[in-house]
Amino acid sequence: TAPISETLDDVETARQEGRRKIDWAREHMPIMASLREDFQDEQPFAGERIGMAMHVEAKTAVLAETLAEGGAEVAITGCNPLSTHDDVSAALDAHGNVTSYAERGVDDDEYYAAMEAVIEHEPTITVDDGMDLIAAIHEDYPELIDTIVGGCEETTTGVHRLRAMDDDGALEYPVFAVNDTPMKRLFDNVHGTGESSLASIAMTTNLSYAGKTVVVGGYGDCGRGVAKKAAGQNARVIVTEVDARRALEAHMEGYEVMPMREAAAEGDVFITTTGNRDIITEEDFEVMKDGVLLANAGHFDVEIDLVALEEMAEEVTEPRDGIEAYVMPDGRELNVLAEGRLVNLATPVALGHPVEVMDQSFGVQAVCVRELVESGEEYAAGVHDVPDDLDREVAEIKLAAEGVGFDDLSDAQREYMGSWQHGT
Ligand code: NAI
Repeated sequence: TAPISETLDDVETARQEGRRKIDWAREHMPIMASLREDFQDEQPFAGERIGMAMHVEAKTAVLAETLAEGGAEVAITGCNPLSTHDDVSAALDAHGNVTSYAERGVDDDEYYAAMEAVIEHEPTITVDDGMDLIAAIHEDYPELIDTIVGGCEETTTGVHRLRAMDDDGALEYPVFAVNDTPMKRLFDNVHGTGESSLASIAMTTNLSYAGKTVVVGGYGDCGRGVAKKAAGQNARVIVTEVDARRALEAHMEGYEVMPMREAAAEGDVFITTTGNRDIITEEDFEVMKDGVLLANAGHFDVEIDLVALEEMAEEVTEPRDGIEAYVMPDGRELNVLAEGRLVNLATPVALGHPVEVMDQSFGVQAVCVRELVESGEEYAAGVHDVPDDLDREVAEIKLAAEGVGFDDLSDAQREYMGSWQHGT
């Protein structure tokens, strides 16, 4: 597998276009700007090789360049076959300290070959979104584990997989659960997924939410954001859940809650956000209205059962880029967006999360990489929460950049909060 600069036809044009996109993101990422300044001065990553498997678009490029400008040698590939922006990948590959193997539209073999190409740089630190890099290292390159200081994981599904691996005693180096920390989860998963999934569906279809029924599968952090933003665009929102407390929370928030089997006949737009499989299946397809839109915002393409849909359909057409219409024997058309892959990243017009949101998530990634370099040996193999002071540091940088002031605890307040002896 070769870096993208060696595979594109008109690499110069791609680089220029990619550079414009990266520069725009860079200008709107004050947390990364502040950290980059420190890293450029202090070169904390000198001598480190950082292997990354992430959605390679403009914001991720800013993270990769920030680590590279702090002295690291970075090798990067995609974490989804449809989410790479080739122009950004090419521009990134032109950076002296970065090699990018990410390319859009690769098949399974090419996807994993690119992952191996990253691993062949012998990373000392890994940065993953979905845990594919860590899995490949443990399965096929165990000899590298001794020299790996640690890793960072970006998303819920990756952290779930890592915790399962850790429970089995199979995870052999420390990994920060970046996803779970407040500065990531409460903003990226909620606002980022909500805004960008809805925007991507709207841009791909050119259709409105007003007056439609949007069914949200799962009411976790992502589902909460999708439901809130869909309601904000005048849709009627139905939520499906398997967790009683989450279902109750959605009910108390004012959404209709019902099993997917019932919601299937009601919805105009379906957005799955569970991180689980088989959320929308054959029985649901049978009762859906003509013209429904089916989209997934969960990490893997297993939430909508496309194998069953394919078997049921008489024909599949492509009415617009990024939409496949499955034509049922009774003439109904069920429209699947982005082949059931992350809709906010994988349709041809998708841009991923808003820049500001990724500034926070990648700010956390960057301080976690710094922590691994500075204190990696203090962390045992396994999944670790992001240290609270690092999460707070990122929040403080962001507030300072936005010019937002906030209060300090007084000594008396600190003493009061820390004591059990105060009563009425
Ligand atoms: P979460 O764990 O907070 O929420 C998932 C929810 O789905 C839970 O409430 C769970 O009870 C529910 N659920 C599970 N099985 C279900 C079923 N069969 N029917 C209905 N509900 C079900 O997870 P979070 O953070 O919301 O992430 C969800 C997925 O989205 C993950 O795969 C994650 O990796 C991905 N993700 C995607 C992003 C994007 O950019 N599109 C950004 C962040 C996360």
